[in-house]
Amino acid sequence: MNDEELKKYLDEIEKLSYKSRLPEHATLFRNKAIMSKMLWDAHYYNAKRFYKETNQLLEQTSDLEQNGYITGKLNEKETSLLKDIFLSCKKKSLDPFDFSTDYFYEPRENLHGDMERVNNYFHPSEFFFNRFPEILEPLKTLIEKENFFYWRVASLRIFEVKPVDRTQGFHLDSQALGYKKMFFYPDGANKSIGSTNIIDKNGNDIIIDLEPGSWLIFENSLCEHQAYSSEEAKGRPTIEIDIMCDFITDTKLNYTGENSWYPWFPVFDSKLKTNGKFDYGELQNRNLKRLAGLCELNKANEYTFPWEMSDFYEKSKETFSLDDSAIKSSAKLVENDLKDYIFNFLRKIKKIINSTGKNLTNYIFNFLRKIKKTIKKIFIKLNII
Ligand SMILES: [Fe+2]
Repeated sequence: MNDEELKKYLDEIEKLSYKSRLPEHATLFRNKAIMSKMLWDAHYYNAKRFYKETNQLLEQTSDLEQNGYITGKLNEKETSLLKDIFLSCKKKSLDPFDFSTDYFYEPRENLHGDMERVNNYFHPSEFFFNRFPEILEPLKTLIEKENFFYWRVASLRIFEVKPVDRTQGFHLDSQALGYKKMFFYPDGANKSIGSTNIIDKNGNDIIIDLEPGSWLIFENSLCEHQAYSSEEAKGRPTIEIDIMCDFITDTKLNYTGENSWYPWFPVFDSKLKTNGKFDYGELQNRNLKRLAGLCELNKANEYTFPWEMSDFYEKSKETFSLDDSAIKSSAKLVENDLKDYIFNFLRKIKKIINSTGKNLTNYIFNFLRKIKKTIKKIFIKLNII
């Protein structure tokens, strides 16, 4: 399987119907999530440090950092545009498989059910893409200052919280920390139309109360939150713009599907030529190989120095084939396993002789029974091998 085939294979399994999924697909998803979290931590730290050092703000903090959320209000003209934008988007049913495979997505069937139960979804219109920058662009610097990072749009979705007696319940999104949610409320947010319920960083339980044309940024992975609604609520229209840290700010609207959240690996195809195996395509490909378990980074019989764990591949190498060294190392594992079994078997015999030496009949009977049991275990083990 070559590089393109591996990407195609991984893309295909992520789009399989619920019933066609296999347990190993969940393992691949988990591997991707672990790698993603580690890479995002480093990216977030570097982006924040870069911003703070560039702007000489090393000791500074912000309202967003301290409270876990901030709110603001658009002017009248922007508010009327925000309403027109929302109205230009047509209602659609949720398609949980509408995501880019390069992006983190919600994979769980029960959560898809919850998303549909709580929200109505809308398709972002052409009018939205043409005019929303007029609202977002003026907020560029404020978003930078509150977050202490340059940023870009990771994803977006347009939805309305339905009148329901129960929402998802308080939760943390537990996503990358360099990724935060920004909600624009064309009709405002309050108890009568529906709102957002947050437990801020000081432990206050807050139901956001804002006028039409307001916005909220909150730390969705640090502050517990839930949508607020009731059976009497009118419904809360929302334009969600998710932001992610970067080294330059780019307010371009980025949409890769309603269940796409942010790139698994915090790299964008910037066309930057690094000439050192870090160009976008190579980096993506290397990460896919790592997550598919092809680097053997997670197995060790003895201590190794990092240079022995190479994950730079020969292009000619078949992805799922084993080379001589891999075959030799699995043979070694089997040999060690058998040695362990024989050793334990002999120890058991010694124990039997010690404990049953006084009674010859019992001794012979137990001895034969335990031998039978141990031989059976060896056979089972050999079969598994
Ligand atoms: Fe959430």
